[in-house]
Amino acid sequence: MKITVRPGGIAQTSSECIILGIYEGERSLEEPARVVDRASAGMLQEIMQSGDFKGERYRSFLLYKPREIVARRIMLVGLGKRKDCTLDKIRGAAAQGARAVRDLGLHELLMPATFARIPGVPQTGIIRALAEGVMLGLYAFDEFKTTNERKKKNVIEAVTILVENAQELQAARDAARKAAIIARAVQVVRDLVSRPANSATPAFMARTAKTIAKTSGLVCTVLSPSQAKKLGMGCFLGVAQGSREPAQFIVLEYVPAKAQHADTIVLVGKAITFDSGGSSLKPARGMERMKDDMSGGAAVLGIMQAAAQLKIPLRVIGIVPATENLPGGAALKPGDVITSLSGKTVEIITTDAEGRLILADALAYAQRYKPHAIIDLATLTGACITALGNDVAGVMGTDEQLINKIKEAAAATSEKIWQLPLWDEYSELLKSDIADIKNAAGRDAGAITGGCFLKEFTGKTPWVHLDIAGPAWTEKDRPYLPKGATGFGVRLLVHVLENWGKKGYIKGEKVNR
Ligand code: BES
Ligand code: MN
Ligand code: ZN
Repeated sequence: MKITVRPGGIAQTSSECIILGIYEGERSLEEPARVVDRASAGMLQEIMQSGDFKGERYRSFLLYKPREIVARRIMLVGLGKRKDCTLDKIRGAAAQGARAVRDLGLHELLMPATFARIPGVPQTGIIRALAEGVMLGLYAFDEFKTTNERKKKNVIEAVTILVENAQELQAARDAARKAAIIARAVQVVRDLVSRPANSATPAFMARTAKTIAKTSGLVCTVLSPSQAKKLGMGCFLGVAQGSREPAQFIVLEYVPAKAQHADTIVLVGKAITFDSGGSSLKPARGMERMKDDMSGGAAVLGIMQAAAQLKIPLRVIGIVPATENLPGGAALKPGDVITSLSGKTVEIITTDAEGRLILADALAYAQRYKPHAIIDLATLTGACITALGNDVAGVMGTDEQLINKIKEAAAATSEKIWQLPLWDEYSELLKSDIADIKNAAGRDAGAITGGCFLKEFTGKTPWVHLDIAGPAWTEKDRPYLPKGATGFGVRLLVHVLENWGKKGYIKGEKVNR
């Protein structure tokens, strides 16, 4: 799909279908809608007064061939009440409109940049939301459908965003280009997470990382199991020893143009390509979902692609330890003691707390880059879902400033997070009788004890952990989050990287709404 931005009037531009946003319950129409209303002898006003369509959020309504309008159709999309309208609702409305146009079997659509307005938000912000909404909403994973079914599927090939003022064209094009880079990165992540575990193996993750490196200008290094062994990655290899698939320790490096002055950020992502629980086998029910246990690692690959394409002025390193967690004859057993890359010994209480083991070695490895900050993403605990539900990630860490940066990004992107504490009382629960630390405490505060375990391997570097077990996957179908893999974390952390040096609150939305 291609997104083009060009100047032009809404009534004079030809298209299969225009998408227009409509606020709920307003007597006077906003600019693009007013133009359409006038050109159609008051048809829009009549529809709204009749009550057939009132602008209810995400409802759509099709108009056919309005007089004096060059476009063939108009898809009205409800924005809901003006006072509740946020960038996120605009993203959703654009997605919903695009999906409705696709479902008509059309291949092209047009939207005005004045689709919606939010006081204090520049038009470029609206354009980014529109472009993201369309690309994310139209996403579908059909690689494993038979070719016949795939051929029958409707696709939108071209999207045009119209700007009225030619002077704003360059900034508008730039906004659409950035949005497309980010949305494409989200799509890459969704593809990886959706892919079944018999195809998305650790080796597949490594191949994908190498492809991304080649096409986006990154350096990719993959450590083999024997190299990881030489370094002393006992935790990473401990998890891998129950599987026949060779583990892959993936490192991507992005070096910006003026590297000497750039801060270094390390992103670490958990990539368990399938989590059966290992010897501490999970119950069979719902186990198929555990193909998504590489969502953190996939997000890191996506973020690295976007960071390089956006030419972010930071040195960004992505570390993705990838392995399966299976109960083979050689698998770890409860009670085993293993030695991490940091030198700390770990008593295995349950082999199902495997994510923190592979991250322990990845976090220790991250220290080599002397980073200013480390951020990890992991589908770490079911307990985080119990605490915060399916739509919200848990955030924990050792640096309030870094946490605040992420909170700001959450507010701006609507990728929701909520902070949990890492007090010493919780770390106490991880004391082992035989080793330096054990890999699991009791049932209480499971998301937090997971975070406390990771903290032991972060040294003095400012560090934040995002537990994305809930939001990495959605069973609900939502406008720009179709059912399945969400790509959570990409929009959030690209925003953090884009605004790294900037101070202050970012306009757009209120915190954590
Ligand atoms: N990958 C799971 C966490 C998970 C569970 C993600 C459900 C998404 C949905 C993780 O490896 C795991 O099994 N965690 C255990 C930790 C416990 C044994 C300390 C858990 O949450 O039960
Ligand atoms: Mn597990
Ligand atoms: Zn897991």
